[in-house]
Amino acid sequence: MPETLTITDNRTGKTYEVSIENETIRAIDLRKIKVNESDFGMMTYDPGYSNTASCKSQVTYIDGEKGILEYRGYPIEQLAEKSSFTEVVYLLLNGELPDADQLSNWQESINHHTVIHENIKRQMESFRYDAHPMGMMISTVAALSTFYPEAKKVRCAENRKLQIERLIAKVPTIAAFTFRHSQGHPYVFPNNKLSYTENFLSMMFGMVGNDYHADPAIVKALDVLFTLHADHEQNCSASVMRAIGSSEADPYSAWAGAAAALYGPLHGGANEAVLKMLAEIGDVSNVASYVEKCKNGEQRLMGFGHRVYKNYDPRARIIKKCADEVFEVTGRNPLLDVALELEKIALEDEYFVKRKLYPNVDFYSGLIYQAIGLPVAMFPVMFAIPRTVGWLAQWAESLEDKDQRIQRPRQVFLGEREREYKAQSER
Ligand code: CMC
Repeated sequence: MPETLTITDNRTGKTYEVSIENETIRAIDLRKIKVNESDFGMMTYDPGYSNTASCKSQVTYIDGEKGILEYRGYPIEQLAEKSSFTEVVYLLLNGELPDADQLSNWQESINHHTVIHENIKRQMESFRYDAHPMGMMISTVAALSTFYPEAKKVRCAENRKLQIERLIAKVPTIAAFTFRHSQGHPYVFPNNKLSYTENFLSMMFGMVGNDYHADPAIVKALDVLFTLHADHEQNCSASVMRAIGSSEADPYSAWAGAAAALYGPLHGGANEAVLKMLAEIGDVSNVASYVEKCKNGEQRLMGFGHRVYKNYDPRARIIKKCADEVFEVTGRNPLLDVALELEKIALEDEYFVKRKLYPNVDFYSGLIYQAIGLPVAMFPVMFAIPRTVGWLAQWAESLEDKDQRIQRPRQVFLGEREREYKAQSER
């Protein structure tokens, strides 16, 4: 069977043959389709990139129709159940699960970088008491580039590895400090004897002078949540990371751009929006009328729908189970009943069924974060910590990829042209 596509241009009657590789054609091959020799040539128009592969990748696989998610070939369900988050980080970055030595060396490398420079700490202290933690995170991580100017050498693999370790180690410390700042509490320094997640909880909720011991069920739940959020192939923020990286900017600046993309309510800010929505609905009796408003287009049902999943998001299923385990320790979140009713009504309603809108990762995660004592403003930060790993895996992969060039899309220009300039007095 020939791996080619034959295209006939009905404007000219000419026929063209383009190669098919990995079920795709190269958009640039369409440029030979012209009416006149002087034409620019055919392009594709794809706002939102619904049907454009921007790269080849070996990191994460999603089958949205079947609800499948795999990191480096391992199903997310198995990783969530059997692996620690630190193992998943190693897997995403290196392609293989670590053996015992590799894991302990990896943990040691991360521990080496968990502390932040005192000047960064002082810079964070200069934010207002009510500064949104995501704004603090984005600007603080961007500022790290000034502390590590050698990070600009993005073509050096050894240097990239060092910056990746720094980012993975420092992001939880900065995240926890944003929370302590909002509480007016002294910052708690990293404790390298603890696991990645337990250390984060200790920096969040520990008190100076007291030993902090997180409940193992909460540590496990957070480990699972971090695992589920670690990567999701070419989503909005990962694409931004790759786009900024394509100009060879340093990874701290690229991280800041990716995190800014994540912050929006249609992406990682959705978990915050879900909790605000559940609080606004307030009671199970108000659910049906709220769903009607969503169907009328007055608002979106936050935590529902996904560009890729046209089936139940596999992460949402795992999180739902995780929520039950957390609530056994913390007590039931009263908004859970509102969420369950919302899910029930939406899954039966023709509007949502027809459009294949199912709960996504953000629908239940916020309920868990709230139950463990986090304010809603911290929710996008809780997404950004683990997603740092995916961004970095995608960034490193793109710099190794010989096909990649600076990202620079085309446009369909529909504006005015060649106008005669008018002096101000004549306008
Ligand atoms: N509530 C009500 N209607 C919806 C929703 C929703 N949450 N999502 C999509 N629709 C409708 C939309 O109005 C459109 O209807 P119609 O065909 O009649 O115009 C149809 O479904 C297709 O929607 P779309 O906007 O073309 O889909 P998209 O792929 O561009 O958007 C999405 C995907 C995630 C931005 C969108 O589903 C959404 O806004 N969901 C709510 C926000 C949310 O939960 N985001 C988190 C995503 S998962 C975590 C992450 O990746 O960060």
